[in-house]
Amino acid sequence: MSATHSIEHDIKNIDLAREGELRIAWAEREMPVLRLIRERFEAEKPLAGVRLVACAHVTTETANLVRTLQAGGAESLVIASNPLSTQDDVAASLVADHHVPVFAIKGETTERYNQHVRTALDFRPQIIIDDGSDVVATLIKERQGQIGEVIGSTEETTTGIVRLEAMERAGVLTFPAMAVNNAQTKHFFDNRYGTGQSTLDGIVRATNVLLAGRVFVVVGYGWCGKGVALRARGMGANVIVTEINPIKAIEAVMDGFRVMPMAEAAKEGDIFVTVTGNRHVIDQTHFASMKDGAIVCNSGHFDLEINLEALREMSSASPATLRPFVEEYAVGKRKIIVLGEGRLINLAAAEGHPASVMDMSFANQALSVEYLVKQKGQLEPGVHVLPETVDTEIASLKLRSLGIRIDELTPEQLEYLSSWETGT
Ligand SMILES: NC(=O)c1ccc[n+]([C@@H]2O[C@H](COP(=O)([O-])OP(=O)(O)OC[C@H]3O[C@@H](n4cnc5c(N)ncnc54)[C@H](O)[C@@H]3O)[C@@H](O)[C@H]2O)c1
Repeated sequence: MSATHSIEHDIKNIDLAREGELRIAWAEREMPVLRLIRERFEAEKPLAGVRLVACAHVTTETANLVRTLQAGGAESLVIASNPLSTQDDVAASLVADHHVPVFAIKGETTERYNQHVRTALDFRPQIIIDDGSDVVATLIKERQGQIGEVIGSTEETTTGIVRLEAMERAGVLTFPAMAVNNAQTKHFFDNRYGTGQSTLDGIVRATNVLLAGRVFVVVGYGWCGKGVALRARGMGANVIVTEINPIKAIEAVMDGFRVMPMAEAAKEGDIFVTVTGNRHVIDQTHFASMKDGAIVCNSGHFDLEINLEALREMSSASPATLRPFVEEYAVGKRKIIVLGEGRLINLAAAEGHPASVMDMSFANQALSVEYLVKQKGQLEPGVHVLPETVDTEIASLKLRSLGIRIDELTPEQLEYLSSWETGT
């Protein structure tokens, strides 16, 4: 931890700030909805004096969210939500230009990552912005005495919501948590189009492989999987989907993809992407039947979707690093290539989602934080979603910023839709 700067921080290099500042400004151009919220926050100061921790991928878009929260009057501290997703230049700019304490370094060890989570809790946050629920889970496990100070939390991703719901069932979630991921203006766009584009971007930046003509296996056909499969097909890949949910599987079939069990897909695939939020969906038996040169990566939240422990045990030597984020494991006479250490490939090897989708995700974050502060003491403990009118308003603002107009219901149509008398 460095004390060389007046703002507390643990980042890679403060001298990267200028580069970060330019990239933050570039992202801001594509975030008009968040800009409108920031302008209102500047005038109204709805978060005045609120101590806030943001555990997020430290990207240019996150920096613009933090600027918005600051404009609203919040006192913020930022940590990474994944050891490999921090953009070190952005972390530097947040400290140097925006005077935000940041504890995040790309490639930090799991131990240091967990230490940063505890540093965040030492800040005694009243609001927690979480991405994967590590801060909330650590608060509940280790800082019971502090829970009373928390107004509420917001959760960015599917995996975090799954954990929050488990906490709610176990009776340990004693404050309101806003499920930002569940807003339609978040997962319809961020999880699908954001993960779709940025996952392929990560694979291509890491390897420069041609996708056309390759057999590309997408494990999980949820919101992220749909986006990845759609974009892989767009690049000319021959896409196979694997699922455990019959409804999602039939959806993939009717979207025109081949669907089969992982045991069969393992033999056919050239490139594999996991996006399930589940554990060991690529396991030892699958590695055993993969082709020589198969490329395996993950875009789900945690690095447990691919059983790397099993792959390590199967291989004769330590993996060879061929390029940044590209490691080759020798399994008998075959080689299996793992990208980004099995961590989110779109953030490890690329820049994460484009700013245009994060505009809506982070509009939801900023408005959820405001909602929690305004409703302080009124909301029941447990998982909440923003009112649907807020979702619709975010979509309307996004359309307006894109210069796209749509129709409005006529009074006649409104009356028809709210009545039951008229039929054939
Ligand atoms: N890379 C990113 O930037 C990014 C962005 C958003 C979400 N995420 C993460 O991606 C993961 C998926 O999110 P989502 O919103 O698509 O979730 P989702 O719930 O919509 O989809 C997950 C799908 O995986 C399927 N699945 C579960 N176990 C499986 C198995 N063993 N084999 C095959 N399919 C299986 C489920 O049936 C479901 O359809 C989560 O961990 C989420 O947090 C990552």
